[in-house]
This record gives sequence, C-alpha cells and structure tokens, in this order.
Amino acid sequence: MKTVTSPREAHEHTAAAKRGGALVGLVPTMGALHAGHASLIRLARRRTGYVAASIFVNPKQFGPGEDLSRYPRDVQGDARRLEELGCDLLFLPSEGDLYSPEDRTRVYVDGLSEVLCGASRSGHFGGVTLVVAKLFNVFQPDEAYFGQKDAQQAVIIQRMAADLDFPVRIVLGETVREADGLAMSSRNAYLTADARASAPAMYRALRAAKRSIEDGQRDPKALEAAIERTMQGAGFDIDYVSIVNAASLAPVALVEGAILIACAGTIGATRLVDNVALAVSGESVREILCEFPEWSRYGREH
Ligand code: PAJ
Repeated sequence: MKTVTSPREAHEHTAAAKRGGALVGLVPTMGALHAGHASLIRLARRRTGYVAASIFVNPKQFGPGEDLSRYPRDVQGDARRLEELGCDLLFLPSEGDLYSPEDRTRVYVDGLSEVLCGASRSGHFGGVTLVVAKLFNVFQPDEAYFGQKDAQQAVIIQRMAADLDFPVRIVLGETVREADGLAMSSRNAYLTADARASAPAMYRALRAAKRSIEDGQRDPKALEAAIERTMQGAGFDIDYVSIVNAASLAPVALVEGAILIACAGTIGATRLVDNVALAVSGESVREILCEFPEWSRYGREH
C-alpha cells in the first residue's frame, strides 16, 4: 500500500491506475477504523481493481464545542489494517494539504442538510459535502463507498453527486453492528461502561418499530413515540426520532414506500445515531439501503 499526503500525489497514483485499465474505488473515512470501515474496504476490493482510502478528520464538519480535538486517532493501527485489507492507496492529508485560508467555495445540498442531524449540527453537512466533493475531484473514482449507518450523509452525497454531475457511482454498505446490536462507530470509544451497557436500546427500539410495521402499524407518530419511550427508558437524551421518506428525508404521514426510521440521542456525553430503512408496500416489509442507482448516472456497469 502506498501512503501519500498531497492531493496531487493521490491524483497521480489514481490516474496511473486508471490508465492501466483498473476501476478505482474510494472509501473516505475519518480514521479510528473499525469493522464498519473494513466492510466498506472489502466491498470496494470486491468491486474494483484499485482501492483508495482517505483518512482525514475534517475540521469543517465539526461545530464549535463538538469533539474535533478529542476525536480518536490511530494512524499507525489504521494503516496496518488497511494494508491487511488489501487497500492500494492511503491518502493522509493534513488540514493544510486540503484547505487554504484563501478558500471561498462552499458545497451545500439544500433542503437535505438542515433536517434530522443537520437541525442540531448546523454546518455539519456543508463540511461533509465540501470535503467529499474535493475527494471526488482528487481521485475521480469510478465508485465511492458510504455506510448506511450514516444514512442522511449517504443520501446527501448521492444528491450532490447527481446534481454536480460527478461521474461516480455511490455504493452503500450495510451497517456493521456489535453482537448486541450497537452500530459500530469510532465514537463508541467515548462510552463509559454504563452508557455502553444501555446504548443497544436504540437499535432494540428500531427493531421493535420494524416488527410493529410488520404487524400492520402504519402511523409514524405512534412508532416514533414507542422508540422515544424505549430510548428514554435506557437513559438517552433524545435529539430526534423521525420516520422520513428515504430519498427526500421529509416526514411521512403514513408508513409506505421507501422510508427511513432515523434516530439520534446522547447517552452519557456521547451522541449516537442509528437507523433502519424499509421498503413498505402493502403487507410486504423489506429492509433496504438508502441507495438510488438512478442518482449515479455515470456509474459503469460491471
Ligand atoms: P467516518 O465516520 O469515519 O465514516 C466513514 C464511512 O464509514 C462512512 O461512509 C460511514 O457511514 C461508514 N461507517 C461508519 N460506521 C459504520 C458501520 N457501523 N457500518 C458500516 N459503515 C459504517 O462519515 C465520515 O467518516 C465522514 O463524514 C466522511 C464521509 C469521511 C467525510 O469527512
């Protein structure tokens, strides 16, 4: 595995791989890699001939008072892990490698960036779309991989890629979980023993909501209230529990079609998010990824 820090080197290595005929897959991360990240690298490895990963704790997606300075970092462990997973290129820029004080350009996906997590984390998704747009330009990947765990982020990036004609196919990976259901997250490292013991209640509540839908419940308000009760009972301070359309992220009046049951809350001092996406049609209820192939018009079939 080659490790580079400058966008130019990252671009040159990837361009050479493309000239050699390889499809390029990109997995953007903020490091402190866990099994969720590893599953995206494996997905990329299976689908493309040249796999690039980036590790960059992007200051522009952290608000004042958020955890930028204490975000977990383990560059050496991460590099070892990526090497073992068969990653070809690791891009490890510093802040100065990616941003300059002269920068004036913003990338903002209107209407999707201020709801759900965006309501309490103002500016967060603008920071995400800016850095991901830059990474798409640096690598010009054929495919880029994102986790269903951060469903809103994935929906926003698909919208951005389609709206700005990035010739990239966005591919989603399933949420990887601990044995007790807690979604893997770099931020789980912050959890105290007590909070860690209570945290799986969030996914339990989502599973219970899915069962209620399978049993015929179609009222989003009743489902949201039940999830909130379970989360509060476990000690969560709720940010939101919301059933929304999986593409527009707008609240639904009735559970039908492609929906996302999304929630966020703080336990101890740690903010956790999780979701389940479902395709509901009549009696049929099926778990899905928030993936909209028609948004990635330029993806090559292979
Ligand atoms: P980070 O939190 O490091 O996550 C990198 C990728 O891993 C994201 O696409 C995320 O959705 C995915 N991921 C995280 N936990 C997962 C899990 N349990 N199962 C499957 N996939 C999981 O998300 C970011 O970084 C940043 O916002 C980034 C996109 C890199 C832009 O800075």
